[in-house]
Amino acid sequence: MLCCFTFIHACRLQKLEKDAVKYWNNFYKNNTNHFFKDRHYLHREIPEISQISNYCKERGLPSPVLLEVGSGVGNAIFPLIEDVPYLKVKTMDCSRYAVEEVLKKSPQYSPNWCEAHVCDIATQEFVRYRPYVDNTDV
Ligand SMILES: C[S@@+](CC[C@H](N)C(=O)[O-])C[C@H]1O[C@@H](n2cnc3c(N)ncnc32)[C@H](O)[C@@H]1O
Repeated sequence: MLCCFTFIHACRLQKLEKDAVKYWNNFYKNNTNHFFKDRHYLHREIPEISQISNYCKERGLPSPVLLEVGSGVGNAIFPLIEDVPYLKVKTMDCSRYAVEEVLKKSPQYSPNWCEAHVCDIATQEFVRYRPYVDNTDV
């Protein structure tokens, strides 16, 4: 019985991994931006982000750039940019629907401070974004 359960579980796991992007797309089509709550605690949990941003601002340096991999529809970056206004953000997510249909169409989104791309970092596709990833501060 245990063997049978383990076998089924392994198959299911394989399918979930293989079709992960499809599942994430379906997830965001069903939930858009109503599932995850805005993470208004990040600037307190990671005070270094504000510190770096303030440091740059006070010295007239360019805005520091934060990279978020797995940004979804922006529940982390939208609150962060509100709480740390001098910050710029680059994001990547494997769900095209989340990035193109929700995040980039959100009234909070602006290309002035955010650059967002669709990319599954578990694939070779990631190599193409290497320069984009390297050119970040946090
Ligand atoms: C738990 S959600 C977090 C969303 C957002 N960061 C937040 O704070 O609410 C995880 C996100 O990671 C993305 N993701 C999962 N695997 C990924 C991969 N291999 N490459 C890029 N994004 C991925 C999913 O599409 C999903 O949006």
